[in-house]
Amino acid sequence: MSSKMVYLQPIAVRIWHWLNALGIVTLCISGAQIRFPEYVTILGSYRSAIMLHNTAGIVVALSFSIWFFYYKIVANTLDDIYIPKGSDLTTGLFRQVVFYFFSYFFGAPNPHHATPENKFNPLQKSAYLAIMFVLMPFVSLTGILLMNMGPMREIVMLVGGLTLLDTIHFLTACSLCAFIFTHVYLATLGSTPMAYIKPMWTGWEKVENHHDAENSLVDRSQAEHSH
Ligand code: HEM
Repeated sequence: MSSKMVYLQPIAVRIWHWLNALGIVTLCISGAQIRFPEYVTILGSYRSAIMLHNTAGIVVALSFSIWFFYYKIVANTLDDIYIPKGSDLTTGLFRQVVFYFFSYFFGAPNPHHATPENKFNPLQKSAYLAIMFVLMPFVSLTGILLMNMGPMREIVMLVGGLTLLDTIHFLTACSLCAFIFTHVYLATLGSTPMAYIKPMWTGWEKVENHHDAENSLVDRSQAEHSH
């Protein structure tokens, strides 16, 4: 089967992704120090951990707007790429879970073939939908309110008070932290460990030419029928 290079990750998506990854990892480490200062002291003083946490939070919120602006306004593909279709939920999710938990270990190929219009497999679509449409907005909005407790006091009271806000911020942050581990593991399951990670840097991914395989099957069956 031949392969070809496909331009899968536009520059805006790559800039957003790596700024975001650096920002989220920094937020997890500094957040752990702010929450558990008696156990985590990796970033020096408590004050420096807070300053770094606030700065990384602003970087992540700004890079989130790059992501949204690119997909929604420039490319206008946000819904098509991120929202799972009916068949993704009925059969696609199951097929992909079976692949990751079972057939992958027997050398089976990934059942999803990425194209620029349909980049994500059904599991990625569902996970990224939850991350980008629920967790990221919640963690960012609660973070912005917590950072501006003085001027935004009335809004904080209106949405349930400091304890509720702090709890939502902490729980969404823990979920994002858990996502990173699964995400990085799954990102290494290409034909080589870097096969999916390199395209997130260069934009280009090497994909198998499945049309060749399908066409050769059609040719073969036509040849068999004509005999
Ligand atoms: C820390 C190291 C990280 C690595 C090595 C990594 C790796 C990758 C790779 C290889 C892809 C492209 C393949 C795929 O779609 O799965 C990707 C896409 C993606 N990653 Fe990450 N990632 C990291 C951190 C993060 C973080 C912290 C988030 C969000 C909180 C994130 C969210 C996403 C999303 C939403 C996509 C899809 C982007 C698109 O094409 O629209 N990643 N990541």
